[in-house]
Amino acid sequence: MSASATWSVPGRVNLIGEHLDYNGGPVLPFGIDLRTEVTVSRRADGRRVVTSDGLGIAEGTADITQQLTPGSGDGWARYVAAACWAHAEATGAALPGLTIQIRSTLPIGAGLSSSAALECGVVAALDELAATGLSAPEIARCALRAEREHVGVPCGPMDQLAVMLAAPEHAVLIDTRTLATEQVPLPLARHDHQLLVMDTRVRHAVADGAYADRRASCEAAATELGLTWLSDADSDDLTRITDPVVRRRARHVVSETARVWEAVRLVRADRPGELGPLLTASHRSLAEDFEVSSAELDLAVGAALEAGALGARMTGAGFGGSAIALCTTRAVEGVAERVRERFADAGLAEPGIYPVRPAGGARREVPRTIR
Ligand code: GLA
Repeated sequence: MSASATWSVPGRVNLIGEHLDYNGGPVLPFGIDLRTEVTVSRRADGRRVVTSDGLGIAEGTADITQQLTPGSGDGWARYVAAACWAHAEATGAALPGLTIQIRSTLPIGAGLSSSAALECGVVAALDELAATGLSAPEIARCALRAEREHVGVPCGPMDQLAVMLAAPEHAVLIDTRTLATEQVPLPLARHDHQLLVMDTRVRHAVADGAYADRRASCEAAATELGLTWLSDADSDDLTRITDPVVRRRARHVVSETARVWEAVRLVRADRPGELGPLLTASHRSLAEDFEVSSAELDLAVGAALEAGALGARMTGAGFGGSAIALCTTRAVEGVAERVRERFADAGLAEPGIYPVRPAGGARREVPRTIR
């Protein structure tokens, strides 16, 4: 049995298919090379101590021994405690004394799945340390349970599966009702295209009520229509939904589901450069029908389009966080510049702008020595 294990887990960008993963719809995320690295090592005194290097997440040290029951704890260390709890629940392995060291380049709360990366990294490293033999999808499921039952966010399964299963130059098509996945080639660079992440630096807390509220509206719509999954609805069904707000939310789910299938068709036909209008339509639907965008996200998307991006949209839960823009390689610099200018004109903090390409998922690293 090893004394130490290190795992590196990417963040994710969702190309398209937003707020579909709790509606049984298809989603199309990919991994990005902003990563969280987790090292777990046994310690003799029985304590469970977490340290973070403060790069992507807050710097500090926390003892999580008292945070191992669902609902307890706060701050970033809570996600680590949640993952420890979920690993023990799933495997029956007792949690030994541990030092858990986090190094991260993935900004927290930026809509790039920092929490899923952290939880999956902790579960994967504990799995290796305790030799509990979980598969990548099982690690994803365990991390999902941590997020739902310990942290208390009623999220869907997209983020955890995406960060575990991502592959370089591919997006992961996830059927969120069966959890079946398929790797879809996304060789943007070969087509002279580039995706830009535009982090508004407005921090969202998915744990707040807005996410749960959207989910509740979708469930109300499905119940009214007599469906298990709202993504099975079609546009005729929408007229049968009585509440106008619930109807609008459902309209996003119906239109977004159609956009994902159209995007999958384009990507499979090796025509990723034609995705732009679908991305922009997705943003409009999220802003107007689902109402999860923000002024800063709209500004980033508008500035990117104005500077010649082929399409742009918010990505992730919304309410702040990041947007993405699909650009030709030639246009990238101009788009980034324009977005920075528009933020400065509006008196906002400089956005974080990162060119990304689809990167590999969770991987084991050679263990590092704990300081
Ligand atoms: C967050 C959740 C995901 C998903 C997205 C919106 O990232 O964790 O499960 O619902 O929001 O698509």
